[in-house]
Amino acid sequence: MTRHHILSILLLTILIPITAVLFHNYSAFSPVFRARFSQMATTNKSPVIVVGAGLAGLSASYSAIQSGASVRLLERAPKPGGNSIKASSGINGAPTRFQNVEKYGVDTSFWDDTTRSAGVRLNSASVSPTVKRRREELITVLTNRSASAIDFLTDLGVDLSVVAQLGGHSLPRTHRGAGKTPPGASIVTTLLTKLKEQGPDRFQLVTDSEVTRLLTDSNAPKGTVKVTGVEYKNRQDGSTRLLHGPVVFTTGGFAGDTHGLLAKYRPDLDGLPSTNDPRPGTHTILSDVGAKLVDMDAVQIHPTGFIDPANPASPLKFLAAEMLRGEGGILLHNGKRVINELQTREKVSNALMALPAKNEDSLRQWDVQLLLDPGATEAAAGHVGFYLWKGLLQKKKIAELDETTRQTLKEYAAVVRGEKEDELGRKAFGNWRLTEEDVDEGEEEVCVGRVTPITHFTMGGAVFNTKAQILTAELGEEQEGKEIEGLWGAGEITGGLHGDNRLGGSSLLECVVFGRVAGEEAAKYRV
Ligand code: FAD
Ligand code: SIN
Repeated sequence: MTRHHILSILLLTILIPITAVLFHNYSAFSPVFRARFSQMATTNKSPVIVVGAGLAGLSASYSAIQSGASVRLLERAPKPGGNSIKASSGINGAPTRFQNVEKYGVDTSFWDDTTRSAGVRLNSASVSPTVKRRREELITVLTNRSASAIDFLTDLGVDLSVVAQLGGHSLPRTHRGAGKTPPGASIVTTLLTKLKEQGPDRFQLVTDSEVTRLLTDSNAPKGTVKVTGVEYKNRQDGSTRLLHGPVVFTTGGFAGDTHGLLAKYRPDLDGLPSTNDPRPGTHTILSDVGAKLVDMDAVQIHPTGFIDPANPASPLKFLAAEMLRGEGGILLHNGKRVINELQTREKVSNALMALPAKNEDSLRQWDVQLLLDPGATEAAAGHVGFYLWKGLLQKKKIAELDETTRQTLKEYAAVVRGEKEDELGRKAFGNWRLTEEDVDEGEEEVCVGRVTPITHFTMGGAVFNTKAQILTAELGEEQEGKEIEGLWGAGEITGGLHGDNRLGGSSLLECVVFGRVAGEEAAKYRV
């Protein structure tokens, strides 16, 4: 072989792989080419502006990017997550592969449970057929897309393999992970990681940025509204900026706006503690451009916020997750049960608030005990460990409990064993395993903590439709032609979906379902 031949072979061994890589990267069918091309296409259009980095905003951002847009996510707080990151019981979905079909059959009752829970705002004879239809349409989207919401999150890597039954549900359908990380935190952090992986051309999270106003097109035809962007304030330096593009509004509810919207719509709730961090409601930003609001007086009181023995008068409380009752926990007042603990939140809270209130500083609180037997403690171990560490739950031997409580436990154990019907109507007992004999022996340990009803969630919000468009029409009015162009909404900021009472686990779900719809629609619309 000549020197010339050897050189040629060497050259070819170097050139062939380089050409292959180049061809692969720039072939119209290669992922690299498609990503670069869609990036170029993206940069020629305005970004989708998402306002609020809770679960609804993160879901909308992800789906807008999947649909080819770039996203600017504006967040008022220094960190993303909102109330979503605090969610502790889980997200509803039915039918899913994690539900126990052998024990319960295929879950077909989510729609029925949700419409029943919506109460008189949906079911009373005086509700107009249009209002009924609109509410039911929203519930249909929520429940029909619940299984794919669970698939979407699990495909991203979120563990949702454990399923519990919450109040008002006819069977277990609230999904959480098997580990110690609560579901809100694991969903939010997974989505954030996936979004950051998109790179700054596709996704930018801008924190400490409070949207103060929606920009509108003054040339929009009479009787219509077109949103063209937002004005926002940097909370660090006070400067104001404008950003143009279609807007997805996901700023959450107003249960934390104690002296603002909450006092305006429900002055009677003054003095109740809350699970929500204090922050101003944003509903007037929407109504200022003509959006209609609905159900603003429908505020959910959660029956069980922990009263911290070290700081009983704190107005902000840790939630005693409903899942604790779902896994077997019971509620006691002076040693006696007062209600089927798995009734809807509205009913459980009403029953507790009918007991004598105990004013502590300026707070209205009640004296109720949450008690978990060893079975419930074990099933909720991840959560219980945290509550014990915070001093919100204490371990006690049964022998240390008062006589009335021990008697109640014996009667309840007989109910769980199927020896008699529960006088209060409870039929699902989670993982309760304490027997009458265990109570007599007194050696087993239970977990006990003081809880009280707290403001938790606002059902009311902006009127929206199944495409997540925000409307200038009331729920009962003709809606066609009343969509605000360039504006979508999802999550707790929207209203009309839950009626009188939201089922536990359905807020994370609405964030994912309608957030994804909103992100996709806004991406399609880009100008
Ligand atoms: P959020 O998550 O509250 O996010 C809204 C974001 O918008 C916030 O980050 C906020 O700072 C930002 N924002 C507000 N105003 C502006 C502005 N002007 N400009 C820019 N940004 C703004 N639901 C369930 O389904 N399952 C559960 O297990 C569950 N557990 C819960 C536990 C707790 C303690 C709490 C408080 C709620 C729980 N919920 C649960 C309810 C649920 O978490 C919330 O209703 C839901 O997460 C709301 O999501 P969101 O995205 O609409 O709003
Ligand atoms: C809870 O964990 O009790 C709250 C669940 C919810 O608000 O959906």
